[in-house]
Amino acid sequence: MSMSDDFTQAEFTAKFISSKSPIKPLVAIVLGSGLGGFADEMTDAVRIGYNDIPHFARSTAVGHAGQLVLGNIGAWPVVVMQGRVHLYEGYPVQSVVFPMRVFARMGVRAVILTNAAGGINLDYGQGRLVVIKDHINFQGQNPLVGLEDPRVGQRFIDMTGAYSKSYRQMTLDAGKRLGIDLAEGVYVAVLGPSYETPAEIRAFRTMGADLVGMSTVPEVIVARQLGVKVLAISCVTNMAAGTTDAPINHEEVLEIGRRISGQFKALLRDVVPLIAQDVAEK
Ligand code: HPA
Repeated sequence: MSMSDDFTQAEFTAKFISSKSPIKPLVAIVLGSGLGGFADEMTDAVRIGYNDIPHFARSTAVGHAGQLVLGNIGAWPVVVMQGRVHLYEGYPVQSVVFPMRVFARMGVRAVILTNAAGGINLDYGQGRLVVIKDHINFQGQNPLVGLEDPRVGQRFIDMTGAYSKSYRQMTLDAGKRLGIDLAEGVYVAVLGPSYETPAEIRAFRTMGADLVGMSTVPEVIVARQLGVKVLAISCVTNMAAGTTDAPINHEEVLEIGRRISGQFKALLRDVVPLIAQDVAEK
């Protein structure tokens, strides 16, 4: 798929989705592994399976429902992805970021990305929620590679301040109000799907990473290309390889996600209206 096709397809898919609901979302929310429950909080919800959306990839990861939900959180129109696709599923990076291109066409001005991550920072523990302040792209891929069509966007994108400082502060303040102990950290994205070796985790710690995961970074890059503001939150589902004797498994990742879902939902319930208000004012 060339980038120009990508542009045409994003426009087509945006029209398709917009025809299914009167909701005009300002904010997109991507719910990661085990964190999909927040979509149940929406009112006037219209659900569309990824299989039924033109040009959307099917999510094959367990713990990802694979549907789009258009609806309201309080008074604010949002679009929620219950599950995402990952590079490790074998999809090209253009498929991974395609929803971001579609959402921007639909008028979305801010995105909240969530994910499950391994804790590299030894101050973290299982179930800790961490606001991402920066990333290290270790996936060996970039969604802007090959870009030659200015309609799709610019090629050389400034990644300084990619994670909105004001949204981070808003979220930390919400955590204080709600009694949720949030941290801020640097996320290193790996390709997966094998978990890391202890040597890799030691190396990442030395590089300044606090968290490791297999998603989010491609979406952030494209969001920034499109001028969409970003908030990203990780749930530490396990401490990274070598930091404890416990083996890491995907079931545990999902289980911890479900266990903290109450806190997680409370945090989003608080933050989504603030972010929607921010973008609605502009
Ligand atoms: N490593 C990479 N990705 C992850 C992990 C991990 O330990 N836990 C959840 N996603």
